[in-house]
Amino acid sequence: MSHHQSSSSAVLITGATSGIGLASAKFYAAKGFHVIACGRNETVLAGLNVGHFLTFDITQPEQVNQAGIALKQYLADKQLQLTQVILNAGTCEYIDDVIEFDAMLFSRVITTNLIAVGHCIRAFLPQLTKGGQLGLMSSSATYLPFPRAEAYGASKAAISYLGRSLRLDLAANPSVDIGVSVICPGFVDTPLTAKNDFAMPMQISSDQAAERIFKGMAQRKFEIHFPKRFTLILKCLSWLPEKILIKLLADKAVK
Ligand SMILES: NC(=O)c1ccc[n+]([C@@H]2O[C@H](COP(=O)([O-])OP(=O)(O)OC[C@H]3O[C@@H](n4cnc5c(N)ncnc54)[C@H](OP(=O)(O)O)[C@@H]3O)[C@@H](O)[C@H]2O)c1
Repeated sequence: MSHHQSSSSAVLITGATSGIGLASAKFYAAKGFHVIACGRNETVLAGLNVGHFLTFDITQPEQVNQAGIALKQYLADKQLQLTQVILNAGTCEYIDDVIEFDAMLFSRVITTNLIAVGHCIRAFLPQLTKGGQLGLMSSSATYLPFPRAEAYGASKAAISYLGRSLRLDLAANPSVDIGVSVICPGFVDTPLTAKNDFAMPMQISSDQAAERIFKGMAQRKFEIHFPKRFTLILKCLSWLPEKILIKLLADKAVK
């Protein structure tokens, strides 16, 4: 199957200014997609040259709403079909002290990684063409509880649930024919993970991640997880009884 698109196919990608989103924007453009790159950094977006860009902060509902209106106009003007939306933008902050639980950090991470995704779905999902695919960026961190990941892991676990539930309701609407993909990467080398002070086994590049996302979305896979050698180990571990799992993982929590 050829993955090259007709020039009227558009994909919207949030978080296209860095890491996985940036690599994906370039990858999709190279495959013939008209890319609507979204982010906060207008300088980076303007330099991309992959189609079009929309500058907005996903945590600001009015900005997201305006981006939705601008997108509708743009698609109509250019006679483009929005065949894919990839809600990739996200953040990661760790809880260093669970006793003095940083509730503001928790709120920040949940707002960016979950609440903002709700606003993006509201603005962009109705614009997907029949047969379109919505990609939600989760994480393989959702397969197991990881130390210090109370905020990040909870936000991504919620995204996975959101994807499953959305898929169910969309499937009950076959005339719309919109598919959902939940994307669960292992460690990918990006500015986000460059801040990590722990070992990141089987890390892949953002270009490799972009290719996996592209293929999974084209095949309309529900769960796009990679690299498999890493995610399958996590999935197997997740079948262990919680008591054993906690024993295995708890010593990793000691800093
Ligand atoms: N890297 C990994 O190993 C890994 C693994 C699993 C899942 N993920 C997920 O993959 C996604 C991309 O991560 P990455 O590693 O590529 O990180 P990254 O290089 O830090 O990129 C994050 C992107 O999200 C954007 N963003 C963050 N907050 C935003 C906001 N309020 N409004 C608009 N855009 C915002 C950033 O824009 P600015 O440039 O304006 O900050 C940036 O473009 C995230 O959802 C992350 O949780 C990453």
